[in-house]
Amino acid sequence: MAELRFDDRVAVVTGAGAGLGRAYALLFASRGAKVVVNDLGGGRHGDGSSSKAADAVVEEIKRNGGIAVADYNSVVDGEKIIQTALNNFGRVDILVNNAGILRDRSFMKISDQDWDLIHNVHLKGSFKTTQAAFPIFKKQKYGRIIMTASNSGLYGNFGQANYSAAKLGLVGLANTIAIEGNKSNIFCNVIVPTAASRLTEDILPPDLFAQLKPEFIAPVVAYLCHESCQENGSIIEAAAGWAGRCTIVRANGALLRSNIEDGVSIENVKTNWETIRDISNAKRLDSIQDATGALIASLEGLKNGNIESDNEDVFNFCNKDKILYALAVGASVETPNELKYLYEYHDQFSVLPTFFILPSIQVLFSSSIVKNAIPGKDIGLENVLHGEQYIEIVGDLPTEGKLLSKCKLAEVLDKGSGAAITVDIESYDSNGNLVCRNQCVSFVVGAGKFGGPRTGTKAVPCQPKPNRNPDATVSHKTTVDQAAIYRLTGDINPLHIDPEIAKIAGYDKPILHGLCSLGISVRLVLATFASHDSSLFKAVKARFLKPVMPGETLKVDMWREGNRIHFETTAVERNQVVIGGSYVDLKSVKASLPSNLTTTTMSNLKSDAIFEFIIDQVKADPGKAKSVGGTFLYNITKDGKQVKHWTMDLKNAKVYEGKPEGKPNTTLTISDEDFMLLAEGKLNPQQAFMKGKLKITGNIMMAQKLAPLLKTNAKL
Ligand code: NAI
Repeated sequence: MAELRFDDRVAVVTGAGAGLGRAYALLFASRGAKVVVNDLGGGRHGDGSSSKAADAVVEEIKRNGGIAVADYNSVVDGEKIIQTALNNFGRVDILVNNAGILRDRSFMKISDQDWDLIHNVHLKGSFKTTQAAFPIFKKQKYGRIIMTASNSGLYGNFGQANYSAAKLGLVGLANTIAIEGNKSNIFCNVIVPTAASRLTEDILPPDLFAQLKPEFIAPVVAYLCHESCQENGSIIEAAAGWAGRCTIVRANGALLRSNIEDGVSIENVKTNWETIRDISNAKRLDSIQDATGALIASLEGLKNGNIESDNEDVFNFCNKDKILYALAVGASVETPNELKYLYEYHDQFSVLPTFFILPSIQVLFSSSIVKNAIPGKDIGLENVLHGEQYIEIVGDLPTEGKLLSKCKLAEVLDKGSGAAITVDIESYDSNGNLVCRNQCVSFVVGAGKFGGPRTGTKAVPCQPKPNRNPDATVSHKTTVDQAAIYRLTGDINPLHIDPEIAKIAGYDKPILHGLCSLGISVRLVLATFASHDSSLFKAVKARFLKPVMPGETLKVDMWREGNRIHFETTAVERNQVVIGGSYVDLKSVKASLPSNLTTTTMSNLKSDAIFEFIIDQVKADPGKAKSVGGTFLYNITKDGKQVKHWTMDLKNAKVYEGKPEGKPNTTLTISDEDFMLLAEGKLNPQQAFMKGKLKITGNIMMAQKLAPLLKTNAKL
């Protein structure tokens, strides 16, 4: 990167005779700026004055070949300091308000003088210098201002009530200057430093003191003052070679009345206290309009009897989130056509369309729409099951990293044993364009019998599968860590990770997220009928029927009806349909299947489940497999055609789909149907061999060694 320079810029740094200010002044000068080194040269507590401190820094700058002038005014006379810049250099571009003193006392001992001196130097001083520089900045349509706050102000610190108040006052001052200056290219930011200086020599522990060089902070301040930096109105903390933005956030909060005529009672506040103070879904608001806008919206909601105060949320995402999601629904670098979901520099880098279900879940979690769906009932989220999900992408898949989602209660049905709550969620890009519609149907166990309607019209209906054999079937074995990975995409319900919670909910172990099984199923549908082209996706509707255990194999049966692909997902090991009545709508079908799919993944093979079973057996007792040794290649055929390879590398206790790396000891070729009959014990291996149903090449003796192992373990 080219060196960031400040040639032709004039920088005023207050309190630049020592500590942080000195480091800023030296850095600016070394990068070409003309610097006004302001310092009153007084004591640490605001007593006395001297020209020595400023002169020493000016001399140092000049020795280094830079340009600087000293100014000995107090910041309280801010206009004089700015005048020094104009008198000597004819302009001013950068103002770093840094001068500071301390008058620490416990709160009760703070005198008026302690209060006034601190406020004068920090708050009033910054006001005076900035007010003097502001018209010049405005005229030249350029200015960079730094205010110096402190963690004492952000968090409080014993014995620094006067200082804390002034320092947080500077944050308020910067916030408004940032707004007023913005259109004139005047940016104002706050630095929160921690550095070794005379102000901190008796506060910071000696070890830490040595690591906290002002020179580690100066580049952060300098960057904020560079013309290329567009940051405005931010608080940046910096120390010891680290920097980070600090911000104020607001909790989702609680609505304390349910219609416009109601008052608010103290008891209601007490009842809602935990929600009021819960910041787990807190948001950063960008402006006072954002802050009051939410309040006005909630007032409108009250007037309309439609409370929508907390029913909006912003979903931010980046490439890493898209990739994590793809991994969480089983995309793999081993499937060449899926690398584009996992590698941001891939020339066809894409996002799986079901990723855009995540904003709907986020806004559902952060709102109380489900909780308050039945008047008079407070619905406990532990009783809520995800019943159905629909997502429709409107136009193209969103590429922007920020979506605003709004959710609305569509209907609440009384199903007797529970309530079915349908919520519509719409997500918009920053131009206000609708990019996707989600619909989530939750089933709340035990919340029925409240006198509501039994059937409704709002939920997008499920569709029965066609009455014929599937046109395609694809399997995917989930891993035991599938739920542990999927939860990182946002659904952190402990039911999916915590064995204790899973037990309380009545499961043997944590269950997989329904949306993970759905993501896997849709990915396989896209692989099969859209050539992995996620831009062909239009919509999916799914109903969750049974939970899936991480580690189980999901078999997705698919039926094509025009551009609609019906699908049904089964947990193979329990032969349990887990997603049913479901379909994917595509913009068009691209069914010319890539060759690797037809021969490996694309299948309707009964033998898959047997091999999955063998994998589990070998994992459970690798010693037994190793005692057989050898590498066996199974060629599985269907209708006389070779459709799949399986390798049993028993030497290394590994069983996997595909061919082995080296030459196998024994190769066995058998049809899918005959393999199943062998597994069920309905076909004798010797007879199969004699009749030519089982072809064995290579080490036949070794194959005999294999038979007892498979008989005991896999019922082969
Ligand atoms: P320092 O004491 O080394 O430097 C402050 C300079 O300001 C001194 O040279 C002093 O003569 C000058 N000054 C004081 N009153 C003045 C006035 N009325 N007019 C002009 N100059 C005046 O202190 P340090 O640590 O470099 O602090 C710089 C700024 O950073 C201060 O605003 C301080 O409150 C702030 N700060 C420092 C932290 C730290 O860890 N060092 C932590 C948080 C904030």
